[in-house]
Amino acid sequence: MQKHRTNPPDWSALIPVLPTAGPRRDALQAELRRLIETRVLLPGQKLPPSRELAQRLKLARGAVVAAYEQLAADGFVDARLGAGTYVAAQVPEHSAHGTAPQAPAPTGPTPPAPGKLGGGTVDDKTLRDLRGLFREALLRPPPEFLHYGDPFGDLSLRREVVDYLRASRGIRAGIDQVMITSGTQSALSLIARALLPSDSRIWVEDPCYPQALNLFRSLGLTIIPVPVDQDGLDPAAGVLAAPEAEAVYLTPSHQFPLGATLSMPRRLALLDWAQGAGAWIIEDDYDSEFRFTGPPLAALHGIDRAGRVIYLGTFSKALAPGLRLGYAVLPVGVVETVRRLRDLTDRYPNPLIETVLARFMADGHYAAHLRRARKRCRMARDALVEGLSAAPLDVKIPEQGLHLIAYARGDEVDAELQRLAQAGGLTSRQLSQMFLKAPAQQGLVIGYSGFETAEIRAAAHGATRAITSGGRG
Ligand SMILES: Cc1ncc(COP(=O)(O)O)c(C=O)c1O
Repeated sequence: MQKHRTNPPDWSALIPVLPTAGPRRDALQAELRRLIETRVLLPGQKLPPSRELAQRLKLARGAVVAAYEQLAADGFVDARLGAGTYVAAQVPEHSAHGTAPQAPAPTGPTPPAPGKLGGGTVDDKTLRDLRGLFREALLRPPPEFLHYGDPFGDLSLRREVVDYLRASRGIRAGIDQVMITSGTQSALSLIARALLPSDSRIWVEDPCYPQALNLFRSLGLTIIPVPVDQDGLDPAAGVLAAPEAEAVYLTPSHQFPLGATLSMPRRLALLDWAQGAGAWIIEDDYDSEFRFTGPPLAALHGIDRAGRVIYLGTFSKALAPGLRLGYAVLPVGVVETVRRLRDLTDRYPNPLIETVLARFMADGHYAAHLRRARKRCRMARDALVEGLSAAPLDVKIPEQGLHLIAYARGDEVDAELQRLAQAGGLTSRQLSQMFLKAPAQQGLVIGYSGFETAEIRAAAHGATRAITSGGRG
């Protein structure tokens, strides 16, 4: 272990003159990161107070604070409350240029195109934590690695999920009601096949999450589109269209794609209807971990007294879609039916990954990861909004989640806007394509999770230029 220098030289002189235009905070952050990677700044070394560095570099203090925060989120520095900011004891492995050559350093996967929906939120620190836990799991594999396991999944992970849901979503569930799934998609498939005969009618939000809609269609269910407004899905409209439907699928905490939260009167009306009709409510709570202001509304499941709600959560957003891990909380009465189908479908979830995630949660890494990820995603959201601020679009800034909608103005159509944005470097989905029966709104659905602020801002600037010039140059 290298000793810390007690009296470091004034390395801030090594920072070249920062650009006077453009994001100087990003330039400072890149320079500090370079100094850490090349071991000019050593692990444990204290960085100057933000005010002092700002004065020396003639920068706004806020820019230095933001650069420090981003470096902390990336695992390069540790901010100790009241004691200052220090170079992290272990900087992210793949960036350590200054050390002696070793085996090729592991790297993260290549990120998708900026704006693409569904990017995970794993940062270098989380990747390091997971890497260590995977190594350990392989050294001491769980018994189910060599034998068959429980169709509902590993008990330790289910216990962690129960605790997490109680504390953060107001859900009180027994461990026997929790099934670990291969993400929301497999949960939806299992539940629909186990509980909904193929002539069932299902209410879906209009507009709707296409993956769920297409799954229900593929199973032969009759789709009943129910309009959505600023209060979420309108149960009265559902009752008018199909009062005796067998189920409703919805995203009450953050409607996909429009972003509304289902109001309390509508929550109660929906629960009333489900109880009367004997219908299932399938609550997809896909991104409630990413609430940027105020606490999230408790889940519908938490106020269900009649056992009609099936709650679905996923680690696809909270960590990464490649883990293929999610969970369902089932009413007691259907547990055995679903368990039998699970056993017949894919037997049980991958025990190695479950063990790793259970440890990740039990050791407090998950809560810390979510705090960092929330911050990073909010910064990415702000960078995207800023990058689109000069575009002839009406951008709705979301208070939750990992995507936003940039609405078309006038009679612009989103197919053309999408083409121009893509030419400028920003990927998006057409909002109009997600509507079923309701009059389609035109806009771009753009994701911001998993992207560095500079990257998403630059892509948004490119799209703004391309849209503004209408593709003329
Ligand atoms: C509405 C909605 N539900 C669920 C998911 C997650 O799906 P899965 O857990 O199958 O990856 C997504 C991902 O994009 C989504 O948008």
